[in-house]
Amino acid sequence: MTEAIIQIIRSPLELQAVSKELRKNGKQIGLVPTMGALHQGHLSLVEKCKSENDITIVSVFVNPLQFAPNEDFEKYPRDFETDSRLLASAGADIIFFPTVSELFPKNVIAGNGFSTTVKVDGMSTLLEGEIRPGHFDGVTTIVNILFNCSLADNAYFGQKDAQQAAIIQKMVKDLLMPVKVNIIPTMREHDGLAMSSRNIYLSAHERAEAVILFKVLNHARTLINSGVRKSELILAETSKILSESSIAKIDYIRIVHASSFIDAEILSNGKYYLVIACRFGATRLLDNLFIEIIGDKIILQ
Ligand code: PAJ
Repeated sequence: MTEAIIQIIRSPLELQAVSKELRKNGKQIGLVPTMGALHQGHLSLVEKCKSENDITIVSVFVNPLQFAPNEDFEKYPRDFETDSRLLASAGADIIFFPTVSELFPKNVIAGNGFSTTVKVDGMSTLLEGEIRPGHFDGVTTIVNILFNCSLADNAYFGQKDAQQAAIIQKMVKDLLMPVKVNIIPTMREHDGLAMSSRNIYLSAHERAEAVILFKVLNHARTLINSGVRKSELILAETSKILSESSIAKIDYIRIVHASSFIDAEILSNGKYYLVIACRFGATRLLDNLFIEIIGDKIILQ
């Protein structure tokens, strides 16, 4: 099979010009924002994007704005050669691979240093936002830039980072941005661990223990299916399972309303997430279960 030619664009304004031309020619554009170190989870977003759009743009950019000084920005895995090969075989059309200095110029005295922040109040300071202050402001700012460069009609985000996806949905709604945000289910390893670029940091022992997150979600699934509706009960039972691992350190395990990320005491008709953040050694892992209740019908994903 011959691989299609993939266009690599580094300049933000060049991408905007190319996208303008594509739109003028009636093409529907889909965008998959990533930080590279691609795995099957990212590629499932690309596949979905390809199936719903004429042109698929994938951005590969480790965004410094969303890392705190003590976080892993410097050592975040980077391998553009492998990423571009994977994206070419996945059939993406354009890779946007900008440089930090072009997106975020530093020349403040000349008046052209980057100085804008896009912030979604409320949700950005809960859960992940509480543990990583400013993180989501970095995410919403870069995603805004990516929307403006790609002029995308559709953008694809993973359910694995459910709070991130919900914050982006809120930003798009509040600012009337002309893009549809699509949330795609989490891809998992054979044993159920959610795929993540950070899984490579896990030692063999931590990797083996990390599967407990999936067990916790499955236990919650069983409880909800058997009619339990009190969050307190579900969380107490699931925390017990998590404490079976001697190395798992829980940052939080909560049941929240899906669109606000505010705690939900009771599961009644509506959409929720059970969200977990847990540390195994120096690595933080996130996972979640989507819960929707419509009368007698329960959707768990
Ligand atoms: P990154 O961690 O590279 O993830 C890019 C996209 O892939 C996100 O939408 C994420 O939720 C999705 N993803 C990650 N693991 C997944 C899995 N196992 N299954 C399905 N989708 C998965 O998230 C970011 O980058 C950044 O914050 C970004 C949005 C690019 C802004 O810088």
